Amino acid sequence: MQIALAPMEGLVDNILRDVLTRVGGIDWCVTEFIRVNDRLLTPAYFHKLAPELLHGAHTAAGVPLRVQLLGSDPVCLAENAALACELGSQVIDLNFGCPAKTVNKSRGGAVLLKEPELLNQIVEHVRRACLPIFR
Ligand SMILES: Cc1cc2nc3c(=O)[nH]c(=O)nc-3n(C[C@H](O)[C@H](O)[C@H](O)COP(=O)(O)O)c2cc1C
Repeated sequence: MQIALAPMEGLVDNILRDVLTRVGGIDWCVTEFIRVNDRLLTPAYFHKLAPELLHGAHTAAGVPLRVQLLGSDPVCLAENAALACELGSQVIDLNFGCPAKTVNKSRGGAVLLKEPELLNQIVEHVRRACLPIFR
């Protein structure tokens, strides 16, 4: 069994991840969702939200950090996922669960569960973009 520190936008930032993973008992953690709209984010932006990427994608206590992306454009999500992998994230977490109205309004999170074809395209594009990075 593994214990993950759940992502919480506005709460579980790098400081809280540092504090809680120092306490121990957490096997891996996830960034707050990183919103992807219609462009490739910069490495600097990823580093701002996930400074652990500058340290091998681990917290100071040595717990792996995974990047979570939120969006609905398969191509753009794939490009940003590939960048996150190149920056060191070993896993990409895709947010298909956030129920917040503000997030769903911009076609992100749980609202995508109503569009299984789109979900399939997102996963397919992200896999295709990320897998070569680990080969
Ligand atoms: C304030 C808040 C922010 C959250 N932000 C995220 C998020 O960025 N990404 C995500 O996948 N889940 C997010 N969640 C969901 C939590 O990670 C968790 O799955 C949810 O609270 C259910 O946890 P529980 O089963 O322990 O009650 C958020 C939840 C809360 C309360």
